[in-house]
Amino acid sequence: MTSSLVVDGGSPLVGDIEVRGAKNLVSKAMVAVMLAEERCRLRGVPEISDVQIVSGLLELHGVVIDSTDRDGELVLDPTNVEQAHIADIDTHAGSSRVPVLLCGPLLHRLGEAFIPDLGGCRIGERPINYHLDVLRTFGAVVEKRQDGLRLTAPNGLHAADIHLPYPSVGATEQVLLTAVRAIGRTTLRGAAIEPEIMDLIAILQKMGAIISVQTDRVILIEGVDRLGGFDHLAIPDRIEAGSWACAALATRGDIYVRGAQQLPMMPFLNVFRRIGGKFEIDDDGIRFWHPGGTLNSIAIETDVHPGFMTDWQQPLVVALTQTAGLSIVHETVYENRLGFTDALVDAGAHIQTFRECLGGSPCRFGRANYQHSAVISGPTPLQAAEITVPDLRGGFSYVIAALAAQGRSTVHGIDLIHRGYERFSEKLDNLGAVYKLP
Ligand code: EPU
Repeated sequence: MTSSLVVDGGSPLVGDIEVRGAKNLVSKAMVAVMLAEERCRLRGVPEISDVQIVSGLLELHGVVIDSTDRDGELVLDPTNVEQAHIADIDTHAGSSRVPVLLCGPLLHRLGEAFIPDLGGCRIGERPINYHLDVLRTFGAVVEKRQDGLRLTAPNGLHAADIHLPYPSVGATEQVLLTAVRAIGRTTLRGAAIEPEIMDLIAILQKMGAIISVQTDRVILIEGVDRLGGFDHLAIPDRIEAGSWACAALATRGDIYVRGAQQLPMMPFLNVFRRIGGKFEIDDDGIRFWHPGGTLNSIAIETDVHPGFMTDWQQPLVVALTQTAGLSIVHETVYENRLGFTDALVDAGAHIQTFRECLGGSPCRFGRANYQHSAVISGPTPLQAAEITVPDLRGGFSYVIAALAAQGRSTVHGIDLIHRGYERFSEKLDNLGAVYKLP
């Protein structure tokens, strides 16, 4: 793997690419394996570094993983789960936040868990207070140590009534992965209901869990004594699909995304259509293209599902630099996910960020000092630039910007992009991108 990409931009991306299982489901499905007492089969697993990180973490805990001869298929055997050393976990986890989700399964299997200080993309503070509060409510005792956290459950884990202060994806998964084997019936209010969470629930149901999703973000989970294995094809990656769709708009291109599905992408498709992008859906995927002429500006805010995903925001902003008039983007999920726009401004984009909640309803960042709204004025030709990838989605966005810009750009630090975009250079080749890996 190399860490820089030299891009000769200015030509449309045209061609056919495929997306496979969603990063944000696959990593959690792999954690769910720790709860099983039988082998599990996961299909559609993408070749991304986040999967390698979680594989390493599971192997440290005694899970035997076989990648089989079939592309994208993992067989995971958790029958000999054991405790790992915290230093090893730290080394393997890198910048991943997955270790915190291992806590519930490890407490059930071994009675204790260790987790190091957590990373993840630097798009906000990204605390784990909801996770720890949830675990304590189930009966876990959390002890802070110099090298991380040690958790025990001296009286076992018992069902709880939980109301999340915000529909956090990770905290909802924490509840699910802990409650399925806890004693009694858990009620979770204020749950996140992202399609990837529904897919995790489908996996847990295959394993023998009893989970019902009610109206108004309420999920009921009846704990069971034992969970078996599963065979599951992961839901496709709607973030990756939306990222390539934005690349089609920004470069005036035409991209068929094999594997993209309409239902989980409905909020994205509405926005894409309002901007003036064209799409066509068939049974195998979605074709996204720029129809020629001028695109429309838009006011949007990111939100939890069924809103417009925060992870689509960064690629979309690059496309919005090419639309006519003033666009407004209000980021309500992460307080610091607009910092990547500075480099776009250096490349000629007209983007100004604001602390106020612009264009929509006030959000929880409104009274704090966070630049979480942006006004983008376009269209502005983008110029070649030398830029460094700040985080996963920001990194993809910089590559799109470099492909849309006239001239030769260098994007440094592209290894981060491999966390969530598989076969990235192969896909660029399929789309006719002109670039070099020096
Ligand atoms: N939050 C807290 N305390 C917590 C947990 C979350 O304050 O204990 C806050 C966060 O700081 C954030 C908000 O709650 O402001 C939402 O965070 P959430 O817990 O929903 O995010 P996450 O589970 O850490 C996952 C994805 C993210 C995606 C978000 C929102 C994975 C591995 N990550 O993160 O994906 O943006 O949900 O959909 O599933 C990405 O793929 O690039 C990515 C960052």
